[in-house]
Amino acid sequence: MGVLKGVSAFVCVAAFLVAKIDSRPAANELPHIIFIVADDLGWADVEWRDPMMHTPTLNHMALNGVILNSSYVQPLCSPSRSAFMSGYFPFHTGLQHLVILPAQKVGLPANLTTLPDELKKRGYATHAVGKWHLGFCNWKYTPTFRGFDSFMGYYNAAEDYYTHVVGKGLDFRKNKDVDREDSGIYSTYLYTERTKSIVSAHNKSQPLFLYLPFQSVHEPLEVPSWYEDMYCKNTKNGTRKTKCGMVAILDEAIGNITQTLEAEGYMDNALVIFTTDNGGPVWAAGYNYPLRGAKSTMWEGGTRGTGFVYSKNLLTNRAGTVYDGMMHAVDWLPTIMSLVGGDTPPGIDGVSQWDSILTGAPSPRTQFVYNMDSLPLFHAAIRDGDWKLIQGSPGGYNGWYPIPGDDDAADDGTLMNEAVNQADIDMYQLYNIKDDPTEHNDVKDKFPDVLATMKARMEQWRQGMVPANFPPFSSGSNPANYDGVYSPGWCDV
Ligand SMILES: *[C@@H]1O[C@H](CO)[C@@H](O)[C@H](O)[C@H]1NC(C)=O
Ligand SMILES: *[C@@H]1O[C@H](CO)[C@@H](O)[C@H](O)[C@H]1NC(C)=O
Ligand SMILES: *[C@@H]1O[C@H](CO)[C@@H](O)[C@H](O)[C@H]1NC(C)=O
Ligand SMILES: *[C@@H]1O[C@H](CO)[C@@H](O)[C@H](O)[C@H]1NC(C)=O
Ligand SMILES: *[C@@H]1O[C@H](CO)[C@@H](O)[C@H](O)[C@H]1NC(C)=O
Repeated sequence: MGVLKGVSAFVCVAAFLVAKIDSRPAANELPHIIFIVADDLGWADVEWRDPMMHTPTLNHMALNGVILNSSYVQPLCSPSRSAFMSGYFPFHTGLQHLVILPAQKVGLPANLTTLPDELKKRGYATHAVGKWHLGFCNWKYTPTFRGFDSFMGYYNAAEDYYTHVVGKGLDFRKNKDVDREDSGIYSTYLYTERTKSIVSAHNKSQPLFLYLPFQSVHEPLEVPSWYEDMYCKNTKNGTRKTKCGMVAILDEAIGNITQTLEAEGYMDNALVIFTTDNGGPVWAAGYNYPLRGAKSTMWEGGTRGTGFVYSKNLLTNRAGTVYDGMMHAVDWLPTIMSLVGGDTPPGIDGVSQWDSILTGAPSPRTQFVYNMDSLPLFHAAIRDGDWKLIQGSPGGYNGWYPIPGDDDAADDGTLMNEAVNQADIDMYQLYNIKDDPTEHNDVKDKFPDVLATMKARMEQWRQGMVPANFPPFSSGSNPANYDGVYSPGWCDV
């Protein structure tokens, strides 16, 4: 009896497994995934929000795809990238403080399964082109050891767009090899050419995953002047004009890549994901107006990311809509894996948004942590439904920063083009983001019950915080040790 029961249970499970496997698309039917990350692109740095910008390709895809209106990212680069790759909030992996600096023995923890790791299990070819910024002190932290078949680009946060040098070191590679030949060429051209050759050399019957974290439009403010002269004639403010040119060449690059994908027949079964990694740095002509704050802050301007998804075949009845559902960078891994019928590592923070993006149903996410860090003092922001609680310093840029020379923005009466003093920031602040997306009205005194509930929730999250892994600088990273090149090999953590 017991044996029979066991057998029939086994049969049931086996039948279920077979059915489950059968319902998943075969490898040659899986969609190609193009995951594009723009660096430091602000809320207002695209043409559909600031008409002075020139982004025809992005506009076309955003307006014929699904614009993500509440898609949150971390305030800074490495933490957002860690969330894209692992599906974990940085405060659960120790990456919540600032970014990974060149001389730190830190990487995305090696025991985490990455998005490309999972995609490879589903048969994908996986390629990364651009900025890594998830650690390089040991080879095990670098892209071709984290699930990518190939890599071209750099390991650190920023560098010169032409020389690919930062400080005293070259930081540019093809796979594991140092690439000195491309010195002098603006990186956006290199990444476009690299991506086009990957696509042209690829056998389309294998699903393709392209991770394209462009250098554009991070500092330094550099772009071939042609782009400013051609596309940004009417932008009077000098640094904004350069930023406009940088955004324009990014748009052109994405246009060239999607044209190649189209010509080679990929776009009929592809999903394009476009996201920034954090808000715009107002000190470097990146703007988030009317949102408050900037890159590096937990204000909406630092964390409510510009993004969209686009597809010719997968979004059909949602094409041309806006998805206002709450999303976070950690959701991309499970979202993509649910689209391709693959596994999601157990225990991650992300949830799949695919069904909601596809149907417009309410988001499965109702809360998230903007960031949570104890260095130097505890500061954090959390969200629950429409409520946002900030504890401690939100970051150094607390004002509203209208786009210089943009009369529409300057006219709306809420203008406050100056930093709000850090000293004037209360220990706790409570906002209702639905009613007050620009964070003008701290309502903690009006809603003491909500404040109490949110403080309790903050404590719950805090119980799960991993201390920030932010070690002192190590001389081992010095490029002088490696023939002038930033290179792995100086840590065994
Ligand atoms: C990775 O390692 C850390 C540190 O040992 C541990 O706390 C964490 O649970 C591990 N995570 C996974 C997914 O294995
Ligand atoms: C692409 O791969 C498929 C499946 O492995 C194979 O049948 C086909 O010949 C390949 N095409 C080219 C052009 O190599
Ligand atoms: C450009 O805008 C920035 C930020 O508002 C300002 O500091 C700078 O002076 C402006 N430059 C010019 C040339 O107007
Ligand atoms: C895009 O393609 C055009 C036409 O070939 C070329 O002139 C331009 O330089 C390319 N732009 C980038 C960013 O690669
Ligand atoms: C996008 O978000 C803004 C700010 O919260 C809101 O005013 C607007 O209605 C949203 N758009 C859509 C289409 O949901």
